[in-house]
Amino acid sequence: MNARNSAYNFQNVTNGTEAELLRLQEQALMGWDKEYRTLKQFGLEDGMKVLEVGAGPGFVTGQLLDHLPHSEITALDIDDALLEEAKHRLRHIPESRIKFTHASAYETGLPDHYYDFVVARLIFLHLHNPLQAAAEIRRVLKPGGKLVIIDIDDGVFGAIEPEIEVIPSIIKKLVQQQASRGGNRNIGRSLPRLLSSSGYTDIDMDAIIQHSDLHGLAGFKRQFDINRFTGFLNKGIITENEYDELKQSYENFDRSPDAHAMMLFFMACGTKPL
Ligand SMILES: C[S@@+](CC[C@H](N)C(=O)[O-])C[C@H]1O[C@@H](n2cnc3c(N)ncnc32)[C@H](O)[C@@H]1O
Repeated sequence: MNARNSAYNFQNVTNGTEAELLRLQEQALMGWDKEYRTLKQFGLEDGMKVLEVGAGPGFVTGQLLDHLPHSEITALDIDDALLEEAKHRLRHIPESRIKFTHASAYETGLPDHYYDFVVARLIFLHLHNPLQAAAEIRRVLKPGGKLVIIDIDDGVFGAIEPEIEVIPSIIKKLVQQQASRGGNRNIGRSLPRLLSSSGYTDIDMDAIIQHSDLHGLAGFKRQFDINRFTGFLNKGIITENEYDELKQSYENFDRSPDAHAMMLFFMACGTKPL
């Protein structure tokens, strides 16, 4: 199985797979305390059977295992290489606590009515058929079980100081490019209706802010690392002018002693009806 049903392709990242792993790690860990706080508010408890859909390299999986010592966790991903990375990272965890499933979110092969809680972090923006994935997750949830989708919306991605003026026009192009590959970088705004349309009830939603004054600048710098944008330039998605402007503004941001930034993540929760 490969990741062809997804707009995310780990093997084709232009910043290189090692830099991409570091980016995912920082992105996962920077705001974890806040995300976990909200997961608990939505009903996550130790001892629950938890499924993480699109677990990737397992950074969030590791946090779930640490925070839920009596839970059995399943980490599912469509990408073999990322799943191997997760297995290696979590090799010290006993098999009774962690299962790895190489499958698609559309067809997990997991049993009906098995999980109490499902976390899907930064995967739905890559899916061409999010309704199908949400329905498949509903199948594997117990009645009363919950799905929490954590995702972005590029309409309100965040803010950066000193400002990088070219960002809005680049983001617009990335949104279009993601849409052409079947994904949706504006999915945040649609999460409540995505959940209700796929049969979930008691919908709730919250926002998480990652701020460099709280979490450090390193993770933010990695998001705007110019190497992430070389592929977009080579494919003609962004112009040479935009690329050069981004490069210069990024260098300015990188050097500025006053640089700060914030990014927004959205968490939407739905319950499988009894
Ligand atoms: C940006 S990464 C996020 C990884 C992790 N959830 C995190 O927050 O760090 C997106 C992940 O979703 C996975 N993915 C994309 N489409 C998928 C699908 N159809 N089924 C299962 N996993 C998928 C990718 O392979 C990748 O590991």
